[in-house]
Amino acid sequence: MSVSDGLADRDGVLRVLSAHLASAWASFDHPRPVEPEADPRLLERLGASLPPWPSDLQATLNDAVRILDASVSPSRPLFLAYVGSSGLETSVLASALAAAYDTNLATAAGAADLLDQQAVRWVAEFVGFPIGEGHFTSGGQVSNLTALLAAREQALPGSRENGVAGHRATVYCSEEAHHSIVRAVEAAGLGRRALRRIATDPQRRMRADALADALARDRADGCTPVAVVATAGTTLTGAVDPLDAIADVCERENVWLHIDGAYGLPAAATTAAGHWFSGLDRADSATIDAHKWLGMQKSCSVILMHRRGALRAAFGHEERYMLHEEDTANPVDRTFEYSRPFRSLRLWLSMRVHGAAQFRAWIESTLANSARLAAAVRAHPQFELLDEPMLSTVCFRHVPAGLPADQLNAHNERLARAIQQDGRIYLAPAALDDAVCLRVCFVNFRTTPDDVDAVLTVASELGNVLNV
Ligand SMILES: Cc1ncc(COP(=O)(O)O)c(C=O)c1O
Repeated sequence: MSVSDGLADRDGVLRVLSAHLASAWASFDHPRPVEPEADPRLLERLGASLPPWPSDLQATLNDAVRILDASVSPSRPLFLAYVGSSGLETSVLASALAAAYDTNLATAAGAADLLDQQAVRWVAEFVGFPIGEGHFTSGGQVSNLTALLAAREQALPGSRENGVAGHRATVYCSEEAHHSIVRAVEAAGLGRRALRRIATDPQRRMRADALADALARDRADGCTPVAVVATAGTTLTGAVDPLDAIADVCERENVWLHIDGAYGLPAAATTAAGHWFSGLDRADSATIDAHKWLGMQKSCSVILMHRRGALRAAFGHEERYMLHEEDTANPVDRTFEYSRPFRSLRLWLSMRVHGAAQFRAWIESTLANSARLAAAVRAHPQFELLDEPMLSTVCFRHVPAGLPADQLNAHNERLARAIQQDGRIYLAPAALDDAVCLRVCFVNFRTTPDDVDAVLTVASELGNVLNV
């Protein structure tokens, strides 16, 4: 493949792409530690300034692959940190196609808009959400912000134009909610003090009675509640708030209910965990990240709205620099973003090729993985389960015999780093109240029961060495 006259030749791009994809996918089966420092020449090149003249393409691509190999990538079956993804190949294919076409979604885009809407309906149907409208966004952060902006306009009509000065707007979420809610409240101009963090029960779920009390107090105080954000799958432990009880409160108080299911919502489609999501159908809006538990590459999130019209009320615009017909629905009248990648093609292609039953089976298998690890931790004399998993996240710690309790946190933090340096599995430490734990989140459809068993094998092998 050459770039000598400026533009790359397409046959060359195809050949190079397929060779690199093949070696990338093969490399995922050979875990290695993430250590950019181990390659000083690479680090030196990463500090170089903008090249004025062409560089050799193959050498540059080789560097790109080395950089990717030395970066945190969740595609490996034993990547168990944060909330990863499976990186489905069908999604890679759709991403490449979408990039080649570079469809313009910043205006009515023809069939792409219909596909976008079909994919939104499929996601809603998969999890059991009564869909009015929705669209794809860059991630849970933007989906949550989108919902909050729609809720703000409903609670305080005209706030788009007038702002919220003169109103004491409030938003409610649990102590365990993701920080994206804080940031969404800030970005929506409500001010961080508008956010009420509601206490949780021993399962780390929002207490509906405490929510009702907070709403009553605020109403009596002259505040305007804008939204309640329930979390369906908290980031730390995978707790699902009691959606039905929260929906009761929201109905009584006539407050918008948004469900942040960025991580957990796909589990609503399963037999094993579906019962936790009772009440989902009563929400005004819900976030689901396809780049977490639906196997897509980042970034690919969906905001689902129960009623039609709320998005247009929040985002409709009247620009006249590009003429479009008055009554023609322009998709960007319902989105915060103008130009954006054709994200829905990934999920549409993957859902069509694999089918809903396969997705359901995959998600069930990750739930079985967390149940398997939790059982192994319970049965192991040197490990302690710190939280009973509701979904696919397991928080546990190594408790070697004879180690004083006040050294457990430092020990588990060092153990997590040792596991990362070892490279066979990748997990990150987390803080559960005052306890440092090893946190494992199963969302990769390729993780096998043998992989699950490797977690305690590796952790006890490294943990016991740390301790001598
Ligand atoms: C519950 C929850 N909400 C929102 C987010 C933010 O999602 P994103 O990174 O896609 O913006 C996360 C990320 O982990 C999350 O776990």
